[in-house]
Amino acid sequence: MWKVQSGCNFGLKTFVLSRNAIGVGHARVAVIDNSYVTGKQQQCQAVQLHQPHRCNSSASRLTDCKRGKGGRSSFSGMVATVFGCSGFFGKYVVNRLGKMGCQVICPYRGDPYDVKELKLMGDLGQILFLPIHLEDEASLRKAMQYSNVVVNLIGKNNETRNFSFEDVNYLGAQRIARLAKESGVEKLLHFSSLNACPNPAGHVLPEGSEFLRTKFKGEMAVREEFPEAIVFRPADMFGQLDHFLTLYARPYRRVAGLGGVTYIPLYKKGRTTVKQPVFASDVGDGVVKALLDPGCMGKTFDIVGPHRYRLDHLITYIYQVLRYSPSNIRLTEFNRTLPFKLQMRLINFVRPVSPPYSLDRIEREFVTDTLTPGNPTLADLGVQLTPLEHRIHWEIKPYRLYNYYWASIGEFPEPDPPPLAH
Ligand SMILES: NC(=O)c1ccc[n+]([C@@H]2O[C@H](COP(=O)([O-])OP(=O)(O)OC[C@H]3O[C@@H](n4cnc5c(N)ncnc54)[C@H](OP(=O)(O)O)[C@@H]3O)[C@@H](O)[C@H]2O)c1
Repeated sequence: MWKVQSGCNFGLKTFVLSRNAIGVGHARVAVIDNSYVTGKQQQCQAVQLHQPHRCNSSASRLTDCKRGKGGRSSFSGMVATVFGCSGFFGKYVVNRLGKMGCQVICPYRGDPYDVKELKLMGDLGQILFLPIHLEDEASLRKAMQYSNVVVNLIGKNNETRNFSFEDVNYLGAQRIARLAKESGVEKLLHFSSLNACPNPAGHVLPEGSEFLRTKFKGEMAVREEFPEAIVFRPADMFGQLDHFLTLYARPYRRVAGLGGVTYIPLYKKGRTTVKQPVFASDVGDGVVKALLDPGCMGKTFDIVGPHRYRLDHLITYIYQVLRYSPSNIRLTEFNRTLPFKLQMRLINFVRPVSPPYSLDRIEREFVTDTLTPGNPTLADLGVQLTPLEHRIHWEIKPYRLYNYYWASIGEFPEPDPPPLAH
């Protein structure tokens, strides 16, 4: 079973990785002349995931295949499958892996056009796509069969008719970990969630967040199936089109009142919640560092940003950056805001598959970010952490009021950064 790294020519040779290129210490590489590839182009030009062929070969070790200084057009020796590549954080991982010369397998569901942007994140022929279904083991196996690294970013913020939280966050994670082990994958990096625990405290949902409960079960199952897996427990990640700043910046999370007043319903008006958001790009750096460092195997990382903020201070700051006047922002008690609850139910009814937020997502907003004592963080991986204040103006710029108005200097005062919490 062979695959050719098309577009990955090193000098006069083209390298062909074998099925076992990823097996521990048993990497096999076939080297064929370019003239041969030209003659067999129809057979061997791309990775043959569906109908693999054999090509003329000689065996060697995978390390022999490493070429170049580590940039996009070199080959790092890493073939990585990134499950959940179509989500918000997927592009950060694929981009970094492509940039350092990895071959990246991008399993996706739905329309292939949804993931087409990822194609440009690596050298020609190095970003490869494969349709999968989370419950179809054959398709998952196929996605991992040539890889020595698997990153699992699959997770769901809301339940749908086809998939419950349990199906995605627990059973799906367990299945991928088991199949990765069976396929001989060397490194598995699994994304859980900060605050995931067996019995999360309830705020607006009396029973607590089912997402956090199933993420914890998933994390435990991954540890059982793949004990050396690296687990990342991220806090809210911010970046372009994230699920955190965008949640507040878009109109669904607020209720418009009379006289231009905007109401944002929060549990205890946000005074009891503390958040520690992390920049997605820093998390991307952390993923690469963790995959390259053999000392990270089997560790669980709490992925948090450098600063902690009280939720009410943070949201007031976000709205000030969005050019709302502080006198027009009202943080109200969540449980007393009937219009917002009706609005939320209506949105979830109209958009059941991917609503902008669900009640479970709202519940998670009010959970204070808590680090597990002893767990290493991004700082331990040597990542330079970026505070939210340094990025927020850029990340939520498209949502600002008067965006097409050419403001004079100082017309909209620069808001002070939110005070830091402990
Ligand atoms: N973003 C955050 O602030 C944050 C915080 C804590 C934890 N996390 C965790 O970190 C990981 C990455 O986050 P993210 O923000 O990139 O998540 P995301 O944008 O919601 O993306 C989730 C990915 O999982 C895939 N997925 C969901 N259900 C699936 C199913 N039933 N079958 C196959 N694929 C499925 C999605 O595919 P489709 O595109 O096809 O739906 C998408 O690629 C997730 O596990 C998330 O739970 C994120």
